[in-house]
Amino acid sequence: MRVLIVGSGAREDALSWRIAESPSCDAVFAAPGNAGTASRGVNWEVAATDGKGLAERCVREAIDLAVLGPETAIAAGVGDRLRDAGIAVFGPNRSGGRLESSKIFAKRFMERHEIPTARAAVAHSLEAASKALEEWRGPVVVKADGLAGGKGVVVAPTVEAARAILADWYGGGRVPGGGSDVLIENRLEGREVSVFALCDGRAIAPLGAACDYKRAGDGDTGPNTGGMGAYSPPDGFPDDLDDRVRERILGPLLRGLCAEGEEYRGVIYCGLMWTAQGPYVIEFNARFGDPETQALLPRVGGDFALLLHSVARGAMDLSLATLSQRRCVGIVLATDDYPRSNTALQGLNGDVSLAEGCRAFWGASQRVDATVSTSGGRVLTVTALGDDLAQARLKAYEAVRRLAGRLGTDALTYRTDIALR
Ligand SMILES: Nc1ncnc2c1ncn2[C@@H]1O[C@H](COP(=O)(O)OP(=O)(O)O)[C@@H](O)[C@H]1O
Ligand SMILES: [Mg+2]
Repeated sequence: MRVLIVGSGAREDALSWRIAESPSCDAVFAAPGNAGTASRGVNWEVAATDGKGLAERCVREAIDLAVLGPETAIAAGVGDRLRDAGIAVFGPNRSGGRLESSKIFAKRFMERHEIPTARAAVAHSLEAASKALEEWRGPVVVKADGLAGGKGVVVAPTVEAARAILADWYGGGRVPGGGSDVLIENRLEGREVSVFALCDGRAIAPLGAACDYKRAGDGDTGPNTGGMGAYSPPDGFPDDLDDRVRERILGPLLRGLCAEGEEYRGVIYCGLMWTAQGPYVIEFNARFGDPETQALLPRVGGDFALLLHSVARGAMDLSLATLSQRRCVGIVLATDDYPRSNTALQGLNGDVSLAEGCRAFWGASQRVDATVSTSGGRVLTVTALGDDLAQARLKAYEAVRRLAGRLGTDALTYRTDIALR
């Protein structure tokens, strides 16, 4: 099989690695790709959101399977365009992608199909939002409707704080993501966990689960980021997590998709809050998470490429891949000004090979002969497998220190408490 991975982050580097290792894979391509994908396949100079350009190139290069990485590609209708051109696609069409691209659509969908989620009100103006807040008590979560790159949600400790955020969003004319619609919802109490479910339009099944770290600093301090680390499988959750998620979330989700005529083929990432009453959905993502994917894929064995292809064809065959019981920890190395701004780095050592069981995945970057340049932000995710979480964690930090010492820069930082509870 000839497989295209759409996107340019560390998630796409991990997907390209795992797919290239699959027995059925003959060649991997990435668009636009990064320094990692360039080392094992061909990068196309086509933007991840350019559906027309990607469709033409896929046909010309006889691509058998396209895997959509970023939400922006899905929301731009890249899945629709590629399917129109006869390409098998892992990733939903734009309409299925609304589960992620519109938080209001997702909330209404969950309400229609009785999927447990926080009680919410929708508002299209500051006036309506203020009115909705009049009856609210206690902490409230304010969410912009559209894709906002992780900057569209604020957990407000009080109704007054929520009012101030809304006044700022509407007053400055900049609701994150660019729309004018917001969701106001109850704060859920519990522990967060992410479950990746595969859906081929007819069946749905959990692939694996992970926990991630969103804040920039140790001890969950500092600003929100795209994600500073993750580990898989989650630790300290009930043993029957998969069964309970299947019954309460995935079952109703699939029934809802089918009832609404949505043939969803790809991964649905369920961001869950595990409450005293069991799992509640915080959000759905229509694609693999970053950095959770980097911590999940080292545990996956078998023919992952063929598994994704079976999902893309609407005939999911879970027996094609296996999931190891080993633990995996992923640590993100980011420039020290992230997420405030991005320092570009040049001339980094492009050889990031590590000891057995450890791997480094490049974020957005370019390979220039033996060196790598990046526009900054999240530069690398370093992962390690272990027999238990403590061992995986130890190995991952050892690998981070080793790598940091030979990259040729001292502008990178990382959290020191990933997978430490
Ligand atoms: N109802 C809620 N109760 C408690 N925490 C929430 C709630 N909704 C969101 N959060 C917190 O805010 C974070 C971001 O919200 P999410 O809906 O996942 O938006 P996005 O990932 O698009 O920024 C979540 O990971 C969670 O920590
Ligand atoms: Mg989220």
